[in-house]
Amino acid sequence: MMRMPADVKSLIHEGAELTDKALEKLIPSAETVPASIHGAMRHSTFAGGKRLRPVLAMQAAVTIAGTLPRGIEQLGAALEMLHTYSLIHDDLPALDNDDLRRGKPTCHVAFGEAIAILAGDALQCRAYEVLAGLDASPNAVVQIIRLIANATGTVEGMIGGQVLDLESEHLKPTPEIVDAIHRAKTGALIRVSVVAGGIYAGATAEDVARLDVFGRKAGLAFQIVDDVLDVTVDSAHLGKTAGKDQATEKATWPAVFGIEQSQRDAATLVAQAFAALNPYGSRADGLKSVARYLIERKN
Ligand code: IPE
Ligand code: IPE
Ligand code: MG
Ligand code: MG
Ligand code: MG
Repeated sequence: MMRMPADVKSLIHEGAELTDKALEKLIPSAETVPASIHGAMRHSTFAGGKRLRPVLAMQAAVTIAGTLPRGIEQLGAALEMLHTYSLIHDDLPALDNDDLRRGKPTCHVAFGEAIAILAGDALQCRAYEVLAGLDASPNAVVQIIRLIANATGTVEGMIGGQVLDLESEHLKPTPEIVDAIHRAKTGALIRVSVVAGGIYAGATAEDVARLDVFGRKAGLAFQIVDDVLDVTVDSAHLGKTAGKDQATEKATWPAVFGIEQSQRDAATLVAQAFAALNPYGSRADGLKSVARYLIERKN
């Protein structure tokens, strides 16, 4: 069991380090045959992501169990592999066509489109292999796998959200459509990261329902902030191409509501998310501080 540091920067740093150590062991070395794809998987995974989904899973687990359960970094690593797969595909020429990600050339720029597509696929396969081996009860493992598969799938999940996002380009966005896109393409994986962390730590159905509310609110706030940062921060600080959403006429929160309203909405959502954690008292402090960071971050 590790002691949880009080301030959010070190809490995120420690969670990210645990995740990185697990990822280092779980992703085949760049020398493993076929070397090109393992090099590509590592290029994108170790390019400097914030590891916020693993950290959310860890802090949700602390909220339920009071301490960090042994082996949770395996869950964190699987979530990060799924997230990285979604980023590699998001950046492909056929999707957002981006050449900068996590401050490095995108996977397809560095390794070619075919290997980038396959590297995304491979990170997804490896994630489920890792999830199947989690050190939790068989019931908990199956529940976690089912929820994660659902949250990254087509019905109100990540892939469905990406489809809506692409099909809404160049159209006049409405509040309803941008809400649906954001909840699905980004919110669903954030929500399930929180819920899966809780289940790993032994959450009851009542706990799961509370974490689900928290995760929904925080997940939507996260993508609203991503949209705001695209407008307000430069590429060097973002580590990805700034101003891209306006250039491609994406359906974003600021496009519908303006920047100031977007910032207010993100703050309101996080306040609502906190309310769902009231029953846990100070055990939820870590999870709350990460959610606060989600809307205060600058990249
Ligand atoms: C970026 O996610 C993509 C979205 C879902 C908005 P993050 O902002 O968590 O990206 P990394 O993992 O830190 O690179
Ligand atoms: C990304 O949304 C969502 C997923 C990767 C599923 P964005 O397209 O806004 O993410 P960035 O801004 O490229 O990181
Ligand atoms: Mg996109
Ligand atoms: Mg994108
Ligand atoms: Mg974005």
